[in-house]
Amino acid sequence: MARGLRSMEVIILPDAEAVGKEAARRIAELIRRKPNCVLGLATGSTPIPCYRELIRMHKEEGLDFSHVTTFNLDEYYPIDPRHPQSYRYFMDENLFNHINIDKSRTFVPYGLAPDPYEHAEWYEEQIKKAGGIDLQILGIGHNGHIAFNEPGSSLASRTRVKTLTRETIEANARFFDRPEDVPRYAITMGIGTILEAREIILLATGEGKADAVAKAIEGPVTTMCPASALQLHPRVTFILDEAAASKLQRKDYYKYVHEMAEALKKQILEARMRA
Ligand code: F6R
Repeated sequence: MARGLRSMEVIILPDAEAVGKEAARRIAELIRRKPNCVLGLATGSTPIPCYRELIRMHKEEGLDFSHVTTFNLDEYYPIDPRHPQSYRYFMDENLFNHINIDKSRTFVPYGLAPDPYEHAEWYEEQIKKAGGIDLQILGIGHNGHIAFNEPGSSLASRTRVKTLTRETIEANARFFDRPEDVPRYAITMGIGTILEAREIILLATGEGKADAVAKAIEGPVTTMCPASALQLHPRVTFILDEAAASKLQRKDYYKYVHEMAEALKKQILEARMRA
């Protein structure tokens, strides 16, 4: 976690690879400082470069995940965790199978829970039992969604069962053998749950995210853009590539603020070393 009290920070980097590396660097810093930290993780294409870099850090630098606990944001329902479209499968394939994490400490909502409503409550309890989430990684949807909290979701929502929109179900149909196998629901952390993480990093890359990013950072706080709720969080960092940042009105200012903050930190460090 960066030093001092902050509010919202916007970091703009050249491309998706750099965004992934910066996120991984911050996660690794937390793991080294607090080996038994609790991470909140996301699926989707955006965090893949970050997970790739974490795997490299584990293999080449010995980054140790053996005491880390993770909670994923969401999962389809119903879905077999062994199904290649399940978020559990995604996490195993893209991260967990390649690092020394104890799988029993990797939580993803269970796609075959007999009672998903009960399971959602149980999931919230597990987060509390683990001491809360130290650092939550988020992606953002084109419409500003975070996790499966689509526009219109309550800003106070908790982990719960959501009905997927017909469009999402139709879009997912191509990944399943039979139409009746396509999940109609999801279990997702709520916006209120996400806001309780001690620190949040939202990653966004590509031009397709530019509108959602601009609304989330510079628009009003509104349920119509769930990511705008992050403006209420005391410690949130948006790590963006140039394309995702392209519609921010105050883009140059954010870059300037970041450069100045880095310069100040360097100055303080040098002064400390001289002392
Ligand atoms: C994933 C999740 C989603 C994604 C979002 C962006 O667990 O909760 O909200 O973060 O849909 O997805 P990508 O990164 O594929 O553009």
